[in-house]
Amino acid sequence: MSGLFIVFEGGDGSGKSTQAARLVEALRTSGRTVIATREPGGTRIAEKIRQLILDPQNLELSDRAEALLYAASRAEHVHHVVRPALQRGEIVVSDRYMDSSIIYQGLGRGLGADQVRDLNLWATEGLRPDLTIVLDVPAHFGLERVGTPDRLELAPREMHERIRDYYLQMAASDPSHYFLISAEQTIDAIADSVRSRVDELLALHA
Ligand SMILES: Nc1ncnc2c1ncn2[C@@H]1O[C@H](COP(=O)(O)OP(=O)(O)O)[C@@H](O)[C@H]1O
Ligand SMILES: [Mg+2]
Repeated sequence: MSGLFIVFEGGDGSGKSTQAARLVEALRTSGRTVIATREPGGTRIAEKIRQLILDPQNLELSDRAEALLYAASRAEHVHHVVRPALQRGEIVVSDRYMDSSIIYQGLGRGLGADQVRDLNLWATEGLRPDLTIVLDVPAHFGLERVGTPDRLELAPREMHERIRDYYLQMAASDPSHYFLISAEQTIDAIADSVRSRVDELLALHA
């Protein structure tokens, strides 16, 4: 595959959607073909699954069913959107990907990070991002920026440190695929750092 797959991760309100939009805009301005997408969602069926998962009335959804629904949504997204675009040589920028499941379902719901990773690697036929940009926020910081709560935001706040540990570990063990950046900066400052890191990747890729 000749394209590039770039993912934004981070807690709710950390600035993922803002930064994804900024990066997409910058890349398009420089003449690149970019697909902007989000998870869970990104296709008609995946959006339906998203509504099912995020509906506050579905609080009884079991943990395993939730993990499978996320994986099903992701399988749709990868099969119909991400992989075809990468095969056309395009850049795909996604707001969240499988690390969100590893964190929320694997660590948060206690299903196990390795099991949830394996499930998602199966669902996506092993598609991993070329670069994951993690917007790192101090405890409770992101939550203050959020509007309407959905099911995900009802997860216990103590998870924050475990999430942070996970990303610190990923970034330490796989620095070429992870870029951690403090979300406690201006939107412009973060966008500039992200752009520099992505430019390095594009230079290597050319
Ligand atoms: N660096 C920043 N500084 C201050 N406010 C920000 C910053 N980045 C995003 N915001 C604002 O915080 C809110 C949440 O940002 P958003 O990009 O939607 O986060 P996410 O997609 O991670 O939930 C929005 O109102 C956005 O304008
Ligand atoms: Mg968002």
